[in-house]
Amino acid sequence: MLPNFLFISILSSFILTHSHSQCIDYQKNLLLQLKNELIFNSPLSSKLSQWNQTDNCCKWQGVGCDVSGNVVTLQLNNESISGGVNDSSSLFKLEHLHKLNLAYNDFKRAPISKGIRSLTNLTHLNLSYAAFGGQVAAEILSLKRLGSLDISNDYRGNARYHTLLLNMNPLKLDHPNLEMLVGNLTGLPELYLDGVNVTSSHERKEWSRVISSFLPNITGLSLCRCSLFGPLFKSFWKLRSLSVLRLDLNDLSRVVPDMFASFDIRYSKFGKS
Ligand SMILES: *[C@@H]1O[C@H](CO)[C@@H](O)[C@H](O)[C@H]1NC(C)=O
Ligand SMILES: *[C@@H]1O[C@H](CO)[C@@H](O)[C@H](O)[C@H]1NC(C)=O
Ligand SMILES: *[C@@H]1O[C@H](CO)[C@@H](O)[C@H](O)[C@H]1NC(C)=O
Ligand SMILES: *[C@@H]1O[C@H](CO)[C@@H](O)[C@H](O)[C@H]1NC(C)=O
Ligand SMILES: *[C@@H]1O[C@H](CO)[C@@H](O)[C@H](O)[C@H]1NC(C)=O
Ligand SMILES: *[C@@H]1O[C@H](CO)[C@@H](O)[C@H](O)[C@H]1NC(C)=O
Ligand SMILES: *[C@@H]1O[C@H](CO)[C@@H](O)[C@H](O)[C@H]1NC(C)=O
Ligand SMILES: *[C@@H]1O[C@H](CO)[C@@H](O)[C@H](O)[C@H]1NC(C)=O
Repeated sequence: MLPNFLFISILSSFILTHSHSQCIDYQKNLLLQLKNELIFNSPLSSKLSQWNQTDNCCKWQGVGCDVSGNVVTLQLNNESISGGVNDSSSLFKLEHLHKLNLAYNDFKRAPISKGIRSLTNLTHLNLSYAAFGGQVAAEILSLKRLGSLDISNDYRGNARYHTLLLNMNPLKLDHPNLEMLVGNLTGLPELYLDGVNVTSSHERKEWSRVISSFLPNITGLSLCRCSLFGPLFKSFWKLRSLSVLRLDLNDLSRVVPDMFASFDIRYSKFGKS
């Protein structure tokens, strides 16, 4: 039997994209408008800078279409984007999108745009390490098809960026708080919230109960540097689907790692701040 996390990566690569599909004109125009709206450093961009009128947009770098030519994936990670996404952005008119990746850009602590609510078919949303800031947009709670949410906000393992970003208005879960987030996304298998500010000390203490009661089928969880403390609730030990768990840089000193022997957890790490 394959481990769960392997299933997930196989499944997610099955959202088929076809580079031979013929791009639909109005969606091509939306992409060109998006390129025009985005503020990005052209010489440092390997994908966006190549988009132009001439080609079939389904063949553009970072763009994936379904068999009918609808744009279903947009991977604009590490494209030196520094702004240009507001509520009326063309991005939010690409209503067929399943996967959106804006990781590793620098949005200069701008909030996540409320326009995200228009992308109701999103299954994968990745806004990690993109320097979004402030309150996590409540509109994310309405994305009921999400299978993976990554809004990690912290340069994992990179000490230089780590200190750079420490006190710089990170994303915070305040309203919505953690419970509202997972209470609205109950089917969510993968949740990555590294470095997100869980503002309530009640939730920092109760997080394991909150996660286990609302996300009983969770397979991947990463909550590094969220100022969490223990103890871990019994119900958390019963999360049998969990195969990836990262909790580094919290104060979980009371956790006895031996207890994890009863789990099927890979890549788990523990540490305290
Ligand atoms: C959004 O940005 C565009 C330019 O990219 C601008 O024309 C428009 O006025 C902005 N809309 C809002 C609501 O800020
Ligand atoms: C359009 O982009 C393609 C690569 O995607 C490039 O080969 C071609 O030269 C570009 N055309 C123009 C007019 O920029
Ligand atoms: C981003 O792209 C640059 C090249 O422009 C590359 O050197 C760097 O490793 C990339 N970073 C990530 C996180 O992919
Ligand atoms: C959203 O997904 C559903 C089910 O897969 C599909 O029927 C619908 O057409 C999709 N909507 C868009 C705008 O792609
Ligand atoms: C989000 O995107 C980054 C950059 O592509 C990647 O390293 C990271 O694993 C992605 N997160 C998830 C949950 O797939
Ligand atoms: C869902 O989110 C709303 C806020 O948008 C919140 O009021 C509600 O309590 C949440 N539901 C659960 C079950 O947490
Ligand atoms: C968790 O999985 C079980 C068994 O597949 C299913 O019956 C249940 O509805 C799932 N719960 C949630 C909240 O998705
Ligand atoms: C987290 O949010 C709280 C409440 O808004 C604030 O007092 C604290 O400074 C924030 N922590 C960080 C690291 O930004």
